[in-house]
Amino acid sequence: MLKIGMLTSGGDCQALNAAMRGVVKGLHENVDEVELYGFLNGYHGLIYGDYRLLSGRDFSGILTKGGTILGTSRTPFKMMREPDENGLDKVEAMKHNYYKLNLDGLVILGGNGTQKTANLLREEGLNVIHLPKTIDNDIWGTDVTFGFQSAIDIATEAIDRIHTTAASHNRVFIVEVMGHKVGWLTLNAGVASGADVVLIPEIPFDINKIVDTIEKRNKEGKGFTIIACAEGAISKKDAKLSKKDYKKKLENYTYPSVSYEIAEQLTKKTGAEVRVVVPGHAQRGGNPDPYDRVLCTRLGAAAAMAIIDKKWGNMVAMVNRATKLIPLEKVAGKLKQVDPKGTMIQEAKYIGISFGD
Ligand code: F6P
Repeated sequence: MLKIGMLTSGGDCQALNAAMRGVVKGLHENVDEVELYGFLNGYHGLIYGDYRLLSGRDFSGILTKGGTILGTSRTPFKMMREPDENGLDKVEAMKHNYYKLNLDGLVILGGNGTQKTANLLREEGLNVIHLPKTIDNDIWGTDVTFGFQSAIDIATEAIDRIHTTAASHNRVFIVEVMGHKVGWLTLNAGVASGADVVLIPEIPFDINKIVDTIEKRNKEGKGFTIIACAEGAISKKDAKLSKKDYKKKLENYTYPSVSYEIAEQLTKKTGAEVRVVVPGHAQRGGNPDPYDRVLCTRLGAAAAMAIIDKKWGNMVAMVNRATKLIPLEKVAGKLKQVDPKGTMIQEAKYIGISFGD
């Protein structure tokens, strides 16, 4: 009898169910007896012993269903070593529940923070397999994370729809795309939708360069400008601040987000009518696109193979279009950022997309 626990942690995405289905189908096809424990609402379920015994039927019909049938929550990695409000040691509690259920291993689906805790559990002696989920695509060691492509589709459509109204009204539109630390989603959605300006955390911007782009377009008779702006876009001025001073700035910040600050500056400097659109969590909602369904089915199947072969302590990655097991200790805590000198940025600049730098 193979006993496997599974949990989804951190922000959700469209393809978590598809990935779990891949794992479970792979196990059921290849192992005679499997017992599956689904921990509810992320690590919370593992800490407090909140789980459901699942059958293969729970995973039927969920390939196309967004969200996660197990629920999710954020338990920041740095809080894992802090006792809870009743003094409970969270790491010991997770180990206790794992051993109590006599699990052979845990399948953990989530982003960077989730991965760090998965690695911590590995260090504590538990058998874990991690599957890289995030619309941000910022997990080191895999070419792509699941959720990313589906989110690109949504963000792209959001910007596509803005094009027509921006052109009709001769307005400047800032569409704020998710991603506090990395700009993969903004860059891809921006290029896919023909944005004129793309602002990402990895390339600090100068507001005057964005003004130049707007004015250049106006001179060319294009009275509108589309700016794809990441949540974590940062000006050159702010990027020069010390961590302490930047934190202070954010504490006294009066704008809902950076897009609104940029909008105010652009209005003052160009006199243009500027509008901000924030698709927000819609980018994580709805069904996975076909790319993510295939990706998750492959990653899930590869995870099942790794479980059966007892290759614990790995992330299942996609490298050069093939699945690959990467040791968690090699990737946990590393962030995969956009390379400002990379060819994709060069190509985008070559066709006239401004990064405000
Ligand atoms: O899961 C990643 C992400 O969607 C980021 O792109 C975004 O900045 C953040 O999560 C939003 O977090 P929350 O869902 O907690 O508001």
